Amino acid sequence: MNLAELTDPIAADMRAVDAVIRAHLNSDVVMIRTVGDYIVGAGGKRMRPTLLLLVAGALGYRGTNHHLLAAVVEFIHTATLLHDDVVDESDMRRGRNTANAVFGNAASVLVGDYLYSRSFEMMVAADSMAVMSVLSGATTVIAQGEVLQLLNVHDPDVSLDRYLQVVRYKTAKLFEAAAQVGAIVADASPDFVAAAATYGRHVGTAFQLIDDVLDYSGDVQALGKNVGDDLREGKPTMPLIRVMAVGSARQRALVREAIVSGEGDFTAVAHAIHDTDALDYTRRAAVAEADIARAALARYPVSVYKDSLLKFCSFAVERDR
Ligand code: IPE
Ligand code: IPE
Ligand code: MG
Ligand code: MG
Repeated sequence: MNLAELTDPIAADMRAVDAVIRAHLNSDVVMIRTVGDYIVGAGGKRMRPTLLLLVAGALGYRGTNHHLLAAVVEFIHTATLLHDDVVDESDMRRGRNTANAVFGNAASVLVGDYLYSRSFEMMVAADSMAVMSVLSGATTVIAQGEVLQLLNVHDPDVSLDRYLQVVRYKTAKLFEAAAQVGAIVADASPDFVAAAATYGRHVGTAFQLIDDVLDYSGDVQALGKNVGDDLREGKPTMPLIRVMAVGSARQRALVREAIVSGEGDFTAVAHAIHDTDALDYTRRAAVAEADIARAALARYPVSVYKDSLLKFCSFAVERDR
């Protein structure tokens, strides 16, 4: 599954969005430009703006007012990454050292705050109360997700429900908001707006479940970030929760201990994960989410944009980056 093929119908829009992003990174404060250019210049897949543009296209929007909003969702995403890498003490992102590794935690947190504030300014400029309501609500939920996750760290008794709540909050919510805003911009009927939200929520969940699989099975080169971070952080993600549900007594104890201490034997835990169905189980859960996302678009008219939205469901589960 090739990302370029998927974004083909919106290639010109994405170039315009990139220009909006760069223009709004501007600041008199040099440090802000330096850190902003550093993380944005490293690339990123631009998934959330892609969804926004594709949904708008699928629902017949042919203007350019959505470029600003597509930039807003990427700004919000980038702010969460700056903060997330500080919290997770990560040192690699998008194939580079993280901003916190290069410029320090304080600069990352503050520039993340700047990007949040900037994104609010931009959404006010877009002048739609409906859009502002969706995006400001999403930002609140993402923050709650990150705090909930913090409470789950080093807790081996986190249930699948508690884990899934974190996934829906920290990741799926922004996919949901991006898709929903695409539908609102297109002035779609409430039914189609709701379908966009359902689509985004479920494809976003699939995306994060696969992120959690890739943390154990991915390739550092392709991903552009380290693998094994979740275990080092004592994060009870679905693969570990699955080992604790179906593993042998020895495997369960090993994983429990690793989550509690955050310094378990990575190789032994990796063996436990590979010797059980933990990764397949998580992949199957992602496939089920992607299927719900696909089904949500059933009543959307046929178009190249809709095709891409459907392909995106496959990308979310088959991706290696
Ligand atoms: C990373 O998101 C954080 C998660 C929600 C898993 P992406 O994988 O979309 O990150 P970039 O923007 O492509 O770097
Ligand atoms: C993603 O969480 C960050 C947000 C959605 C806010 P992770 O910590 O799992 O993502 P990576 O692995 O660092 O990209
Ligand atoms: Mg992280
Ligand atoms: Mg991760």
